[in-house]
Amino acid sequence: MSPSAISELVQDEQGNITVPTKTMHVSNGHENGAATSNGHSTERVTSNGSKKMEYLLDRHLHKTFPIVTGGKGNDLYLADGRTVFDATSGAAVSCLGHDNKRVIDAITRQINTGTPYVCSSFFNCAIVDELCKELINGTGGKMGRVFLIGSGSEAMEATVKLARQYYYENDKQSPRINFIAREHSYHGNTIGALGISGHVARRAPYEPFLMENVHRVSACNAYRQRKDGESDASFVARKAAELEAKFQELGPETVIGFICEPVVGAALGCVPSVPGYLRAMRDVCHKHGALFILDEVMCGMGRSGTLHAWQEAEGDVVPDLQTMGKGLGAGYQPVAAVLISKKVIGALLNGSGQFVHGHTYQAMPVQAAAALEVQKTIREQNLVQNVKTQGEYLEKRLKAVLGDHPNVGDIRGRGLFWGLEFVKDKRTKEPFDPKLGIAQKLGTTAISAPYNMTMYPGTGTADGYVGDHIILAPTYIVTKDEIDHIVKVTANVVNEVFQNLDLESI
Ligand SMILES: Cc1ncc(COP(=O)(O)O)c(C=O)c1O
Repeated sequence: MSPSAISELVQDEQGNITVPTKTMHVSNGHENGAATSNGHSTERVTSNGSKKMEYLLDRHLHKTFPIVTGGKGNDLYLADGRTVFDATSGAAVSCLGHDNKRVIDAITRQINTGTPYVCSSFFNCAIVDELCKELINGTGGKMGRVFLIGSGSEAMEATVKLARQYYYENDKQSPRINFIAREHSYHGNTIGALGISGHVARRAPYEPFLMENVHRVSACNAYRQRKDGESDASFVARKAAELEAKFQELGPETVIGFICEPVVGAALGCVPSVPGYLRAMRDVCHKHGALFILDEVMCGMGRSGTLHAWQEAEGDVVPDLQTMGKGLGAGYQPVAAVLISKKVIGALLNGSGQFVHGHTYQAMPVQAAAALEVQKTIREQNLVQNVKTQGEYLEKRLKAVLGDHPNVGDIRGRGLFWGLEFVKDKRTKEPFDPKLGIAQKLGTTAISAPYNMTMYPGTGTADGYVGDHIILAPTYIVTKDEIDHIVKVTANVVNEVFQNLDLESI
């Protein structure tokens, strides 16, 4: 690149390098990338071949994202000729990797029947019930039915409404109107799901009109909350006492249920529940006749090393309602679901017989065909065992290679769902100043040459406002050699980012 070309490089606040396009003649008469009110004439081509979207309301209007042209297995192919290793399955979604012919064929077969859509108010389609049977079988028959929808947020919305309806069926004046959810949680971006979420930054703009009937207890975060010398049992007892106190504060007869992620995803970076926690929380709920509700949109469907995160080594902790998404369809179709216990279904069967809720796009044949093939593939190829095996290896290697790094505060997770939390001071666990954008820098560095690997950054890890983490969530088809690659690249990226920070001056 010539010196004059280099002088034209522009770096945005996320560190993306872009090259303003020379004298562009565009139809609306603007030149040199001058912006119109909708930004259409700001087309710029980046040095790595990515292109600013002109018409899409992108995730970030000041950021450019590399253009993907295809993929295979763990690899994504970019327009600039690079191959990026997908160490996160997107956002913990593409668990079978890319270009899985078996799933693509199943989708194609369903489309070729001529019924990619049937109206669920008038008809049913056999493949939808086949998927639901597969999902119920995956619980060992411990759950009753499935509500099928398109996204994790919609699944959470449905769950919130179904939980309320469970009590309403028997008592139209039921006083049960309150939910207890946790701090540092994420359950989706629609108004109801965001209302349940304790994700401070995502809630902030909408805070004035989010649900007021959601009350909070602390998350189960051993790294930041466990007292010196505190055993799992004592820590769990403290959490159960906190939940019990919240029930008493609200009046136990007003509580619909308690909602949590068994392994916290985006809000905390793969923080698993301490052994015994889920059981203790369920017992508090059931003591008060309230529902025990799990959000497994991110951590479920094999991601945590068991098909469902509630299938713990100490025994199943079966929820009354459970959401699932992401890995359910592995990114081949937008699909999510609510798993409904026999208890909750019983209330509908003995009552109105109808869930007062529905969407145009629900129980779609194509999404069912995709999810069914994904789930059959996971089962027939014993991929959850691979998640467990490679997950244990990933943990061992991450801890060996990065455990002593002065800015790696914690390495935690389950299965193939691992988070690294970064701190300024390992002893005090003091987080970095958010202005430094540590997590974003790690993610941006990783996805750029020469590293060419995805890392999923997150912030607010320490207290909702400050703190940085990254998530690694490889596909279920990842091999031992590929785990070595992921750990090597992660270590190199971490070392580069922290070496380039002037730690003395911050
Ligand atoms: C635990 C959890 N619940 C719900 C959601 C919302 O899912 P979706 O983005 O598909 O609406 C997410 C998304 O990241 C999630 O991680």
